[in-house]
Amino acid sequence: MRQRWDGAVALVTGASSGIGAAVAGRLAAGGARVYVSGRDRGRLAEVADRLGGTALPADLGAPEQAGELAGRVLAAAGRVDVLVHSAGRGWAAPFTGTDPATVAELVAVNLTAPVLLTGALLPGMLARGRGRLGFVGSIAGRLAVRDEAVYSATKAGLGVFADSLRQELRGGPVTVTELVPAVVDTPFFVRRGRPYPRRAPRPVPADRAAAALLAALLAGRAEAYLPRWMRLPVTVRAAAPATYRRLAGRLG
Ligand SMILES: NC(=O)c1ccc[n+]([C@@H]2O[C@H](COP(=O)([O-])OP(=O)(O)OC[C@H]3O[C@@H](n4cnc5c(N)ncnc54)[C@H](OP(=O)(O)O)[C@@H]3O)[C@@H](O)[C@H]2O)c1
Repeated sequence: MRQRWDGAVALVTGASSGIGAAVAGRLAAGGARVYVSGRDRGRLAEVADRLGGTALPADLGAPEQAGELAGRVLAAAGRVDVLVHSAGRGWAAPFTGTDPATVAELVAVNLTAPVLLTGALLPGMLARGRGRLGFVGSIAGRLAVRDEAVYSATKAGLGVFADSLRQELRGGPVTVTELVPAVVDTPFFVRRGRPYPRRAPRPVPADRAAAALLAALLAGRAEAYLPRWMRLPVTVRAAAPATYRRLAGRLG
């Protein structure tokens, strides 16, 4: 495990909490030099101290901060070999009750920021002939979840961006991996203001999500579903959309 990321410089967004913090922990334990980003300076400093990493606070709801974050990590480390986008914000409410400021923030944090940050750091990876891009998507982006229209759309956009970019980079030195989690036990649900409402799939620990993402990243795999069986409803939706819509309407 330890030598797996030896010598790599990693930047992880959303590292002040949940999946991002767990990813940063595993990268640091594997020998990477870890730069962690998040909004909450106190929690971020605590994570950085614990991992022997460097805190780079940023509010990715402000589009210019993605580029600034890229500039700060390059100034500090000279390069980024592993870039993991875990920063994200949930939202669960009927669309008609969602105010424009919330829509703008969800799009900025979940979609615009990872695209801009990738755009700023990818050229260096290509020039050095080495790079791994990891995106934390969501099953909501694959299945289009009721009362999560905007969140689902941002994650669908992120997944399609990752897919398109992977095709563009095919055969080259930079790989693109997306983690597609269903339910992970983090503060995500408290923060979005609505608890997780279903019995299944059951929440998995953040460290399991981190392990799944990093295993796929290391292997250069396109995607990792968590749990793996969540690929099934996605396949049904793609192969038989009308049937899927009927089932989703009945099951909620
Ligand atoms: N938990 C789940 O069940 C689940 C399922 C599917 C997908 N996901 C995705 O997994 C990713 C990580 O979420 P999580 O479960 O680990 O939730 P979390 O514990 O709430 O962590 C979210 C992270 O995103 C950061 N973030 C939020 N808004 C930000 C902003 N404006 N600027 C910069 N950073 C911001 C937070 O930073 P601060 O704490 O410093 O504000 C925090 O580090 C998200 O992209 C989420 O959509 C989660």
